Amino acid sequence: MRILATQPLPGPAWAELDRVEQAQEWPPAAPVQGIEALVVVNRRVDRAVLDLLPDLRLVANYGVGYDRIDVGDCRARGVAVTNTPGVLDAAVADLTMALILACLRGVVAGDRLVRAGGWQRGWSQPDLLGRDLAGATLGIVGLGRIGSAVARRAEAFEMRVIHHRRSGGEPLDELLRRSDVVSLHVPLGPETTGLISRERLALLQDGATLVNTARGSVVDEEALVDELVSGRIRAGLDVFAREPRVPERLLGLENVVLTPHLGSATAETRAAMTRVVVDNLQAAERGEPLPTLVPESCALRRPSR
Ligand code: 8YV
Repeated sequence: MRILATQPLPGPAWAELDRVEQAQEWPPAAPVQGIEALVVVNRRVDRAVLDLLPDLRLVANYGVGYDRIDVGDCRARGVAVTNTPGVLDAAVADLTMALILACLRGVVAGDRLVRAGGWQRGWSQPDLLGRDLAGATLGIVGLGRIGSAVARRAEAFEMRVIHHRRSGGEPLDELLRRSDVVSLHVPLGPETTGLISRERLALLQDGATLVNTARGSVVDEEALVDELVSGRIRAGLDVFAREPRVPERLLGLENVVLTPHLGSATAETRAAMTRVVVDNLQAAERGEPLPTLVPESCALRRPSR
C-alpha cells in the first residue's frame, strides 16, 4: 500500500512501516496517482485534497479531533477515516490542570516578575494573590474521555466538579453561572462551533477562569478577547480559532496564559498516537477492520486492483 504523510511521526512505531512517501508541499501541487493511505497532521482534508489523491482509501488522522477532515466528503468517495482516541486523555487532562493552576496561582506572572527582577516588592504582591483550587467549583463542558480524566484530577485537588454533557448533567448556562473555573472538552462540530457565545461568556462570574484545551472555535474568540481585555475574567488557552494565529490583543494581558496547542505534547503520548496510526495502516494493509475508524466514516474499501 502506498502511504503519503504530511510529515514523519514521532516514536518507534513509525519505523515499522516499510516506506512512507513524504509530501514535499501541502496540498500537493498536482494530482498524485496510486496513493492509498494519507497520514495527516493538523491539515485540512476536503474535496480539493481528495481530488488530488484519486486512489485514496484511508485518511489516518494524527489526533483525536478530526474537525479538519471533511468526513462527509471522504465518505462520499469511499475513503475511510481514522483518528487516535484513548491515548492522549491523560496528557490533555494534565495540561488542563497545568493551565488551571497557572491561572489560579499566578505561575506565569510570577515567573515573569522574577525574571524582570521585580521580586523585592514582597510576598504579598496583590497581583500574585491567587485562588484556592480546593473548594472552587470546576464546570466541565463535555464529559467524554478527556473531560472525565480532568474530573478525576480536579477531585484530587478537592475542587467541586460539575459537568454539562449532551445527554444530561447541569444545563450549560447554569454551569457557566455557577463555576469558578470552566474547562471545555467537546469536539468541534456544527453543534459546538461558537457554543460559548458572547452571551454565554457574559454568564461567567467576575473573576472566573475559562480553560480551553479543546478547539478555539468552540468559543466566540472575538467575544472572549473582549472579556479578557476588560479584565473581568481570566483564561488559560491552548487552542485558538486560526492557529497558529493568536489574537494580538491577548499578547500583553496578565490575566491570560497562552500555550501553543500542547495538549498531547508529551513524548510518551505522541509515540502512543503514532502507534495507533500505524496500527490502522497495518490493519488496512492486511485488509482487516480498522481499529479506530471514526463514527461517521465508511469502512475501508478493497483496493481497486
Ligand atoms: C493534535 C489534538 O492533533 O488530538 C487532537 O485532537 O488536538 C492534538 O493531539 C496533535 O497535537 C497533532 O498536532
